[in-house]
Amino acid sequence: MASVNRQWLLASRPVGFPKASDFRLAESPLPQPGPNQMLVRTLWLSVDPYQRGRMSDRKSYAAPVPIGGVIEGGTVARVEASHLPKFKVGAIVESRFGWQDYAVSDGKGVRIVDPALAPIETALFVLGMPGMTAYFGLLEIGQAKAGETVLVSGAAGAVGSLVGQIAKIVGARAVGIAGGADKVRHVVQDLGFDAAFDYKATRDTDAEIARLCPKGVDVYFDNVGGAITDAAFNHLNERARVAMCGQISEYNAVQPEHGPRLLRQLLTKRARAEGFLVFQFADRYPEGLVHMAEWLKAGKLKYRETVTQGLERAPEAFMSMLKGGNVGKALVKVADG
Ligand SMILES: NC(=O)c1ccc[n+]([C@@H]2O[C@H](COP(=O)([O-])OP(=O)(O)OC[C@H]3O[C@@H](n4cnc5c(N)ncnc54)[C@H](OP(=O)(O)O)[C@@H]3O)[C@@H](O)[C@H]2O)c1
Repeated sequence: MASVNRQWLLASRPVGFPKASDFRLAESPLPQPGPNQMLVRTLWLSVDPYQRGRMSDRKSYAAPVPIGGVIEGGTVARVEASHLPKFKVGAIVESRFGWQDYAVSDGKGVRIVDPALAPIETALFVLGMPGMTAYFGLLEIGQAKAGETVLVSGAAGAVGSLVGQIAKIVGARAVGIAGGADKVRHVVQDLGFDAAFDYKATRDTDAEIARLCPKGVDVYFDNVGGAITDAAFNHLNERARVAMCGQISEYNAVQPEHGPRLLRQLLTKRARAEGFLVFQFADRYPEGLVHMAEWLKAGKLKYRETVTQGLERAPEAFMSMLKGGNVGKALVKVADG
């Protein structure tokens, strides 16, 4: 076991798009678990868009990471030493241990991962937070049903790639919006979406949505906000549902953007737009995980990972994800399992 713990700390609050100097790699002595504690070794680290919010001190639903604090993040880890009967040495666990090699935990909020079920890093993707976001966001907030058209932005990313596939599983038509021809090809050919288009290569997003959703949009799963969402609102059907999951196009904005006023579309279509935060469904995760695991086992859910090797490259992986460098889930492999 190493004698030092490497930790990524927040050096400064990013202004606009984050830069390397906003992060600082520090070393501290390996922490020791006290009574009723365990020591875990990070194996996989998740880089996610919400972490950008935690780096800002703008008022939000969660407190920001303090300057000098360890960057928050979901992790899959191995128990190295334990004074907790529930967590045996060698067990694989999932929790938010942050961007560091080792952490001490009292076991609260820690889930034991079954390595026989699927590769352990899927606890950060299909069988973890993004999976639960797609499942409950589409089926509970979006109320997607057979025969309907589901339009999803951020379609080739962690949440979006699952949303389109769950839409297909429930018998809906899945249409994706993603950045780049490779991503479009991936969601249609590998994941089975009915159609998709590249918003970066399209001059007229409105016309593309009209072309690919000839019967209009019954559920719009919004991962990105901004101009893409403005266009999607123009195609909502009567009683459509908008599941407002994320607004990544605005996370690095220094000034709020002003767009067209679209609430009339909701009014005249008697449509509903509802924001949600995945943890509001926390007490139902077991139910969501059972379904996702079944679909995964049956080959109905496919997934891709974009893996960056080494804790020292975590900021790079994070910034790349914010720019669309990932297909599927953006992950950092920290150590062998
Ligand atoms: N509400 C919740 O509880 C909850 C939970 C999880 C995630 N989320 C949100 O869901 C969204 C997706 O999260 P994720 O973890 O699945 O990330 P992700 O989609 O795997 O990665 C982020 C993607 O965002 C896209 N993107 C970046 N800038 C963009 C822009 N200006 N316009 C359009 N797309 C842009 C990029 O794809 P392209 O190459 O296609 O541009 C990038 O790959 C995020 O907004 C996130 O905050 C919400």
